[in-house]
Amino acid sequence: MNRVVVITGASRGLGLELARKFIKAGDKVFGISRTRKHWAAARRSVGSKNFELSCGDMTSEKKVRELLTKIARRARRIDILVNNAGYCGPLARIEKIFPAELMEHLKQNLLSAFLMCKYAIPLMVKQDRALILNVSSMAGTRAVPRLFPYSAAKSGVLALSQSVAKENDGTGLRCLTVCPGGMNTEMRRELFGAEDAAKQQTPEFVAGVVEQIVDNKIEVLSGGHIVIRHGKITGIFPPPAA
Ligand SMILES: NC(=O)c1ccc[n+]([C@@H]2O[C@H](COP(=O)([O-])OP(=O)(O)OC[C@H]3O[C@@H](n4cnc5c(N)ncnc54)[C@H](OP(=O)(O)O)[C@@H]3O)[C@@H](O)[C@H]2O)c1
Repeated sequence: MNRVVVITGASRGLGLELARKFIKAGDKVFGISRTRKHWAAARRSVGSKNFELSCGDMTSEKKVRELLTKIARRARRIDILVNNAGYCGPLARIEKIFPAELMEHLKQNLLSAFLMCKYAIPLMVKQDRALILNVSSMAGTRAVPRLFPYSAAKSGVLALSQSVAKENDGTGLRCLTVCPGGMNTEMRRELFGAEDAAKQQTPEFVAGVVEQIVDNKIEVLSGGHIVIRHGKITGIFPPPAA
């Protein structure tokens, strides 16, 4: 399709599956990850020169600006931005959570997506059409006990999408949130172990739903969100009334 797609957290898990789908559709994908640790495997699995990886911590304003400037210079446009990079720390009751752990969740899940929006919107809003997909979680739609920092950060991601959608209403820029339930990825394995992770939906399935959203086969209104759980779409929600 020749679209320019930027995906954060594209070296593994959901981000890598999304990269595979977009590449298969004929798009150019600029993937970003924090480290180069998984690049060799990611490149092998995508197998295309149209998949370009860059390294950068998306919680760094300087790095976000630098990477987006580089992409804008090269591609001149961003058709689709997927803010997918995220972090979920260990399970703990509120009384046992250190403030630094809460702040880390807010940085990794919310600040990163906010920074990407902040610096990508000026370019994307000038285009006839552009789409920002922010990856939250079911945990962002309702709090999960012992995952308060993650739930709080991911519910902030919903607020971010709603704000971007409303502020750019009447332009060609749309923004919506994808809220997956558990997926069989490293994040889930680290939190709940390999046996539990193997029972979760695949990131391929969730990436397939995202593909249908961008291809307008599934309609999610700008500012709205979609919940994908146990290999099914369990809800599509419009943005809240003004
Ligand atoms: N897995 C689940 O059960 C689940 C459920 C609901 C929602 N989600 C959400 O879905 C998204 C993808 O999750 P996943 O399970 O695929 O994650 P994952 O397997 O842990 O992969 C995370 C990816 O994000 C990158 N990343 C992390 N922090 C970053 C940062 N600060 N800057 C740049 N890149 C960063 C990682 O890069 P490196 O490889 O270099 O570290 C990696 O590419 C996340 O937002 C997650 O919260 C996951």
